[in-house]
Parts: sequence; C-alpha cells; structure tokens
Amino acid sequence: MVPEHVSIIMDGNGRWAVSKGLNRSAGHIEGVESVRCILREAAKSGVKYLSLYAFSEENWKRSEAEVSALMDLMMKSMIGEIELMCEEKVRFVVLGNRSRLSDELNGTIDACMEKTKDNKVITLVIFLSYSGKWDILQAARRIAADAVSDPHLASRLSMEDFDRYLVTADIPDPDLIIRTSGEQRISNYLLWQAAYSEFYFTDTLWPEFREEEWKKALDAYAKRDRRYGKTK
Ligand code: IPE
Ligand code: IPE
Ligand code: MG
Repeated sequence: MVPEHVSIIMDGNGRWAVSKGLNRSAGHIEGVESVRCILREAAKSGVKYLSLYAFSEENWKRSEAEVSALMDLMMKSMIGEIELMCEEKVRFVVLGNRSRLSDELNGTIDACMEKTKDNKVITLVIFLSYSGKWDILQAARRIAADAVSDPHLASRLSMEDFDRYLVTADIPDPDLIIRTSGEQRISNYLLWQAAYSEFYFTDTLWPEFREEEWKKALDAYAKRDRRYGKTK
C-alpha cells in the first residue's frame, strides 16, 4: 500500500555540515536539495500529501544568525521553486504560527499558496514555526471563543469537530512519519494527528536522504500491519 500522507522530520542538517567542515547553514542549503528530490519521488510514488517539519516553535531559540539564515533560505527556496511547483501541479501549503514570521515572508507564502491552490498532483505542506502543543492550544482557544456564543459547543464537541480547529483541518493525518539523523523522538511535532501514524527512523542525515532512502522507507511501510486497536 502506498501511504496517502508521508510526513518527514528533516533532521541532521547541522551534523552533516559539521562533519564536512562547513558551517551549519551549508547543511540547510543541501537539505533543500533533498526536499526537491523527495518531492519528486513522492509524486512519482503516488503519495498525495508530503509534509515536512521545517522549523519548530522551539527552533526560534537558536542563534539569531542561524534563524535568519533559515528564514532567508525558506524565502529564496519558495521564490526559486514556485514556477516548477506550478508546472508539476504541486499545491503548496504552509502551516504554523505565522504571526512570528516577517511580513515579507508571509507575503511570499501567501502568494505561493494562492498561485498553487488548485493544483492536484500532490500537496506539499511545510510546517513552519509549528509545534504540536501550540496547535492544540490555538484550537482550544478558538473553541473557547466560539463557546461564548454557542453554550452547547462544549458538550457537543466531537473528535471530528476538534480536528477541524487544528491548523491541519484540510490535511489527512499522516500515515507514515519519517525522522532522519538517528534521533527517535517527536520533538513537539504532530501530537494529535500522529495518533495512528507509523514511524520510520533512519540514521541517514537529511541532506543525504534521497531516492534510495525514500524507497527503503516506503518498502518498510508496505510491510506494516495497521490494526487501529482491532484484531484481525
Ligand atoms: C534540521 O537540522 C533542520 C532544522 C531543525 C531547522 P538541524 O539543524 O536540527 O541539524 P542537527 O540536528 O543539528 O544536525
Ligand atoms: C526537530 O528537529 C524540528 C525540525 C526538524 C524542524 P530539532 O533538531 O529541532 O529537534 P531536537 O532539538 O533534536 O529534538
Ligand atoms: Mg536537529
């Protein structure tokens, strides 16, 4: 079975760069090459949603130099890739706490999302300034606000209703979550949405995660038995 939604915690850019005697930013730049490659592979594989954890809410605590280099790279990559995304019929979506992004970056994101909104081959979701706890909290806040004018909301609220308050409302839950670089943790990523995701961990660093690694992950997924709490 081909997963409908593959999500990747792209980790190890810094270690890749340091191992080559380069600065961390060089790792992020090489990581963009992996994004390009994996987007192509995902579309070829018939995956309908590819989502990428690009920058967590916690990543704002990194040095100002690294944060601004990363934001710069996001902006340049979007501008550089928009034509190709249009040609390849990629729908581009950014999810996260957009209030922390610069006006300039938000403007570029809006323009890219608007230009690609009707594309149907694959949806590329970039999680930017995102964290799972932030998402659940912003949902809870909006529910509390809606409950003021709707006193029955609290008792009526279903799991499906809650889903619609998360920023991922339009995106199915990930079938497969891949984390590169050997770390085996969720790092405040999709907490609610990962309830029944399959996990795949690899020691390969993100800048080296290319076609062969993608195939290995999808092969591993194909062998999984997803039971959702039931028996055969
Ligand atoms: C992942 O690589 C990219 C981001 C978190 C922005 P890292 O920058 O975390 O690389 P390592 O983990 O330090 O090697
Ligand atoms: C997780 O990677 C966030 C992203 C890949 C964007 P980190 O490198 O920030 O995570 P920790 O600190 O190792 O848990
Ligand atoms: Mg890391």
